[in-house]
Amino acid sequence: MRIFLDTANIEHIRHAARLGVISGVTTNPTLVAREGAGDLKAAVLEICSIVPGPISVEALSLDAEGMKREARELSSWHENIVVKIPVSEAGLEAISVLSGENIKTNLTLCFSANQALLGALVGATYVSPFVGRLDDIGHQGMAVVADAVELFDHYNLPTQVIAASLRHPLHPIAAAKAGAHIATIPYSVLMQMIRHPLTDIGIARFAEDWKKVIKQ
Ligand code: E4P
Repeated sequence: MRIFLDTANIEHIRHAARLGVISGVTTNPTLVAREGAGDLKAAVLEICSIVPGPISVEALSLDAEGMKREARELSSWHENIVVKIPVSEAGLEAISVLSGENIKTNLTLCFSANQALLGALVGATYVSPFVGRLDDIGHQGMAVVADAVELFDHYNLPTQVIAASLRHPLHPIAAAKAGAHIATIPYSVLMQMIRHPLTDIGIARFAEDWKKVIKQ
């Protein structure tokens, strides 16, 4: 399973990229807005220059024509750009055309295995089940990831499953066990994955003990 960073924060992306653990980035309008108004194209191109992997950027049109127009524009910015398109009739129609043009797409706001299956059938490059938002309303979000992986494996569908809307450090483990191709995680969760209090205690104790050796 690969890890993508789920953020538009440039410093966080730079840091995670330096660690060598991320191979892509996902953004959405909320995450972009959190970083303040600015030049979207410049910000996206900066992310592309930091991470040499898939960078998801969301199309905002609600109709198929607008989605296709936006997707062609966004994907012309950089070869690694993946256009996020939400599940809807318009979204499926747009993806079915865009996949024929070799434009990479990420079916977003996916909340069921049926939606994921339809995304794969129209040729989406990725589908993104939103695990945390399903958990929030009392559903088993990760079950949608597992079902999508099983369906795609069964029929050799090339679409990859991105476990999205992950909120805590148990989520990447569950995503990996469910067979997700990718887990996209917030920076805070990446930091939580790295840290363990016993590691910190162990490092401090080794350093103290080594000082005693040096003194001898
Ligand atoms: C990723 O593609 C999604 O935009 C993101 O994971 C949504 O996360 P949230 O449900 O925490 O907003």
